[in-house]
Amino acid sequence: MDQAGTLRRLMSNRVAIRPMNMKPIRVISVTSGKGGVGKTNVVANLAVQLQKLGSQVLVLDGDFGLANLNIVMGLDAKATISDVVSGDKDLSDIILTGPHGVRVIPASSGIFRMTQLSLAEKTILMERLEAAPVPFDTLIIDTGAGINSDVAYLNAAATEVLVVATPEPTSIADAYALMKVMSQEYRVKRFKLLVNMVDDAREALSVYNNLMTVSDRFLNIHIDFLGHILDDKRVSQSVMARKVVCEAWPDTPASRCFEAVAKTLRESPAKSELTGNVQFFWRTLLNEVSL
Ligand SMILES: Nc1ncnc2c1ncn2[C@@H]1O[C@H](COP(=O)(O)OP(=O)(O)O)[C@@H](O)[C@H]1O
Ligand SMILES: [Mg+2]
Repeated sequence: MDQAGTLRRLMSNRVAIRPMNMKPIRVISVTSGKGGVGKTNVVANLAVQLQKLGSQVLVLDGDFGLANLNIVMGLDAKATISDVVSGDKDLSDIILTGPHGVRVIPASSGIFRMTQLSLAEKTILMERLEAAPVPFDTLIIDTGAGINSDVAYLNAAATEVLVVATPEPTSIADAYALMKVMSQEYRVKRFKLLVNMVDDAREALSVYNNLMTVSDRFLNIHIDFLGHILDDKRVSQSVMARKVVCEAWPDTPASRCFEAVAKTLRESPAKSELTGNVQFFWRTLLNEVSL
């Protein structure tokens, strides 16, 4: 069968999903607009804390520009999602197992653009994802800085968009710009805000109020306040040691915050969870990329 035919067959299989496999899947994209605000550390630490609380977590490194999630998680990526797309590797060859059994799909820097895959590459990726399904109930996606098409597309495919901001005015402005683009061009109307690198909880609330005030006036969106992560030198020390802070220093203030945020996340499921099995999710994800 030619590749277009294979793709059509895969798409039409949507109806063949067995009800017994129906299980809601949370897809949380972690995004910010501005770089360097702590997205990758948030992804790694929330993944570990959610897994500790009983979730089955899969992490996708969606920062195809700087792909450094595996470094932060202390993992060596010998092969990446690009090798799957090129047909050289199966998914099972590239998936890594990190702290507490968190599964990680690593990316490589620079060369891979999800939104610029050819029809042939999408077909291969989809077939490989279907052939070796990885069980998970929570997918966390680390996105890159800026609002390029890959970032927007990953956010649009997620069931929850978690925006990370810091108290710096530039970060607040970029978080606002990101939510504006996502709401006006991709019809994402609901966001969760996590304020990182704060001195205390009050500082985080003031960032939230700041964003609420402008978004209430100019955007038709809803922002849920998810919490804060304290500024803590142990975070950068753990990056230096290539460990996640929750593993290296579980009792340090930042780790306590990650634990609290993970609990809040578990208690507040998405308004719209994807219903369907894992294969169904991958098909939906790839189907959203315009063919
Ligand atoms: N809560 C925190 N306290 C102190 N430093 C932090 C904290 N969160 C992140 N950092 C530091 O900020 C830098 C950028 O973090 P990173 O997760 O790579 O950001 P991004 O993925 O948004 O570019 C890292 O050097 C990290 O050590
Ligand atoms: Mg990052």
